[in-house]
Amino acid sequence: MRIAATADIHYSPQSYDSLREPMARVRDEADILVIAGDLTNYGKPEEMRSLLSALVRLRILIVAVLGNHDYESGHEQELMRMMTDEGIKVLDGSSYEKDGVGFAGTKGFIGGFGRGVLTSFGEKEIKAFVQASVDETLKLERAASMLRTPKTVIITHYAPIAETIQGEPQEIFPYLGSSRLAEVIDRHQAALALHGHAHHGKLNGMTTGGVPVRNVAISLLLAHDPARPYRIFDL
Ligand SMILES: [Fe+2]
Ligand SMILES: [Fe+2]
Repeated sequence: MRIAATADIHYSPQSYDSLREPMARVRDEADILVIAGDLTNYGKPEEMRSLLSALVRLRILIVAVLGNHDYESGHEQELMRMMTDEGIKVLDGSSYEKDGVGFAGTKGFIGGFGRGVLTSFGEKEIKAFVQASVDETLKLERAASMLRTPKTVIITHYAPIAETIQGEPQEIFPYLGSSRLAEVIDRHQAALALHGHAHHGKLNGMTTGGVPVRNVAISLLLAHDPARPYRIFDL
């Protein structure tokens, strides 16, 4: 299966204009398109409506998770409904199987990496914050557990490892993802993990369990090749 992947479109009519032509080629190059969150800029239904009219013209199966920007206006449920109505497989702690490849996805959350992971101690505000991170991890765990396919692809918006966020200011690393997500990726021995959010991160990394992690934030992809707003993976 050929998987095209991108993220962080942050849709506006102006910004999508330059993507229209290169995106139109995706169906010749891939069987499925993964969008790893931040489809919109402010999470507004009108942004999504406009983006969806462009996405349906691609005539390719799309699997997506939402990102933090898609939550900005509090309309995330409506956005997911709109996407689902257009045939997009929206993963929110859920999974989807196609031709022997299983996709498990969720937005994920922040909280830091490795020894720097924030733990549930002290104020109730800290505990609530950590709980949000744990909840997203459990959602991903549940989604991955449902799959019986020989190959699993994990999709999150937030980064599961620190390696693919290198290039961003070090001060904001804990706000770019959480290594709790990587524990799920390794436990299920995924074939591939895809994420976005780190617009100025690094393309390639690996979990401690040896699973390839790919940052598919569109700004990063375009910086490497202005004609290719997505990356292709052969599984
Ligand atoms: Fe983004
Ligand atoms: Fe984001």
